[in-house]
Amino acid sequence: MSGKNVTEVVRADAAGIARAARILESGGIVAVPTETVYGLAARADDDAAVAKIYAAKGRPDFNPLIVHVRDEAHARQYADWDEAAATAVQTIWPGPLTVVVPAKPDSGLAKAVTAGLQTLALRCPAHPVMRALLDLIDFPLAAPSANRSGFISPTTAQHVLTSLDGRIDLVLDGGPTKAGVESTILAIRAGGVWEELRPGPVDLDALHGEHFGKGLPAMGDVKAIEAPGQLASHYAPGKPLRLAAATSEADEFHIGFGGVAGNCTLSATGNLAEAAARLYDCLHQAAASDLPRIAAAPIPQTGVGRAINDRLRRAAAPAD
Ligand code: TXA
Ligand code: MG
Repeated sequence: MSGKNVTEVVRADAAGIARAARILESGGIVAVPTETVYGLAARADDDAAVAKIYAAKGRPDFNPLIVHVRDEAHARQYADWDEAAATAVQTIWPGPLTVVVPAKPDSGLAKAVTAGLQTLALRCPAHPVMRALLDLIDFPLAAPSANRSGFISPTTAQHVLTSLDGRIDLVLDGGPTKAGVESTILAIRAGGVWEELRPGPVDLDALHGEHFGKGLPAMGDVKAIEAPGQLASHYAPGKPLRLAAATSEADEFHIGFGGVAGNCTLSATGNLAEAAARLYDCLHQAAASDLPRIAAAPIPQTGVGRAINDRLRRAAAPAD
């Protein structure tokens, strides 16, 4: 908790961004729009501020946070940034790609950010509000998705309030986010081995396929996960979810796609980018509906469809 029980919502205009910067400077926690989902930000160099993120989310302390930086030069201050990392982000940053690289031991970041790992997850966001905010402050921002741990991620300010109202200082409302699913996470291992830890809006296979085809960990479904947040049950809507459902039962809230209309449609035209942008809103609607069960239409396993199916599978996994 941040010591308050009223969460203020302000428009993400210049005054709102300046206010967010002041709260962050003094160690508060603020929900901010990014091009993927809303993040819950705190200054990454302050133990107490980072602790507030874990407390507000109810996040297990073994699950490390992504650190958001202004640019590549800023990233270099906190991590061993080699040629492979530079290649990976080229043409993508600022954008929805997170890179996991060796952390600098003397980086000055709060210990809880990396949850004891030797590596650090870094991302340079593209959203103009995040960029304006990072320009106003002289510290990087730790920011996981702005939802209670394990619950559906937020793509609107209202979604943030659904799970964190009264637990955070401020929501900077920048309207609905565009990409709709969290950043692609790429780990770069010693010896230049690339491993995709989480599928997302950036199609690494299409952009950097040559780095994955060396008989080393194959791209594909997220597997034995180093990213501890990639737990089987995540994004949970709080009711059973049936996958690849072309038709639905009377007591199911149907999430549609393409030819399958549904109660909420990810994309009537079968557009995967539109579907990703609408995924969490449909899950929020399904969670709030009176219908006791959810069914989701089949989604092609190509491009950002891999990220959508990854999130749906985790949303469908029983909580442990
Ligand atoms: O698009 C996004 O990435 C959003 C926005 C707010 O930037 N953030 C986000 O954060 O999705 P979060 O905390 O919900 O997911 C971060 C994931 C978790 O699965 C975590 O375990 C993983 O990144 N992670 C963080 N640091 C890591 C590290 N050093 N090694 C491996 N995985 C790491
Ligand atoms: Mg999350």
